Amino acid sequence: MAKKVKVGFVGCGGIAGFHFAHFEKMTEKAQIVAVCDLVDERAQNTAARFKATAYKDWRDMLAKEKLDAVYVCIEPCAHELKGSGGMELAAIEQGCHLFVEKPVAMSMAYANKVLAGLKKKKLINGAGFQDRYQDIMPYMKNWLSKKDVAFINGYWVGGMPGVWWWRRRETSGGQAVEQTIHIFDMVRYLFGEVVAVQAFGRRGVITDVENYDTEDASAVNLQFESGVIGTVYSGCFTNCGGKCGIDIYCKDARMDYTESAGFKAYEPNLNIDMKTGNDYGQEEDDAFIDAIIEKDQSLILSPYSEAVKALEVALAANESMDNGGTLIRLK
Ligand SMILES: NC(=O)c1ccc[n+]([C@@H]2O[C@H](COP(=O)([O-])OP(=O)(O)OC[C@H]3O[C@@H](n4cnc5c(N)ncnc54)[C@H](O)[C@@H]3O)[C@@H](O)[C@H]2O)c1
Repeated sequence: MAKKVKVGFVGCGGIAGFHFAHFEKMTEKAQIVAVCDLVDERAQNTAARFKATAYKDWRDMLAKEKLDAVYVCIEPCAHELKGSGGMELAAIEQGCHLFVEKPVAMSMAYANKVLAGLKKKKLINGAGFQDRYQDIMPYMKNWLSKKDVAFINGYWVGGMPGVWWWRRRETSGGQAVEQTIHIFDMVRYLFGEVVAVQAFGRRGVITDVENYDTEDASAVNLQFESGVIGTVYSGCFTNCGGKCGIDIYCKDARMDYTESAGFKAYEPNLNIDMKTGNDYGQEEDDAFIDAIIEKDQSLILSPYSEAVKALEVALAANESMDNGGTLIRLK
């Protein structure tokens, strides 16, 4: 029987649970052998679930285990540690393939260091933009490739996630970096490189949340290398039905994409209504493990390098809105 890919997890919280469910369906090719979390109970429960070893400190985990791959599923502010590098760099040093949840860091300096390490050691890498694995994507891309896209309107509007770290800029990065980055990634996936970013943010809509210090709403203007322009809205102030997606306006055609759900396309004599039909989260994890087994990075639709580019757009949005809407050129 072929050797299974031995995986370690840093972080056993919400999104780790999403991946754990997929690993339970990949037992013939991968095995979670070690897990760590600062919250002991989370590490212990996960270890029991997978017959793995529980750790509190990722340094111990990396020192004691011989891992093929590491998943990093921690809050945005916890990647980079002042003075001691961070778990991604340590895992790379040990030759581990790496999957990192989005946003992959809170600074371009750290994200670029990790990217350089992955390239230098030629390690398989992935990042948590699972929407790229939806079965509708090739149809959307094909439809768009034949259209003249003029502008787009993206949005991630809803309520505030309950995790402790979300409501402060210094721990989450704010909504553009933590949530709307899914839309920034998707618009890059569909329309290519972003060359300029300009944003406004506002506060004062949310007045009843303690210890909250980030934007309630923002509007981020984007200019793409292709000539396409667009605005991406974020809002975390409403619990009356959120809305996440992208409206795409083309010459003589229109497409409405609903995040994780499907798209509708309208042309003068043709309407298309397609729903996402696959388990794209499962496919994301299958692709990562298969890429390791087959030594083929091209199986991964959301490599770390792409996540770094989405981060660059989101951080530029923050920088612009923090400076009264200045124009940030990325190229
Ligand atoms: N891809 C997606 O759709 C998606 C969805 C939700 C969250 N996320 C991302 O996943 C990340 C985690 O979010 P979450 O909702 O799972 O948060 P969470 O708070 O539920 O879990 C994070 C866990 O990491 C642990 N942790 C933090 N620092 C650690 C360290 N140094 N060593 C070991 N454990 C450590 C915490 O104790 C916690 O249990 C965030 O960056 C978030 O943006 C992605």
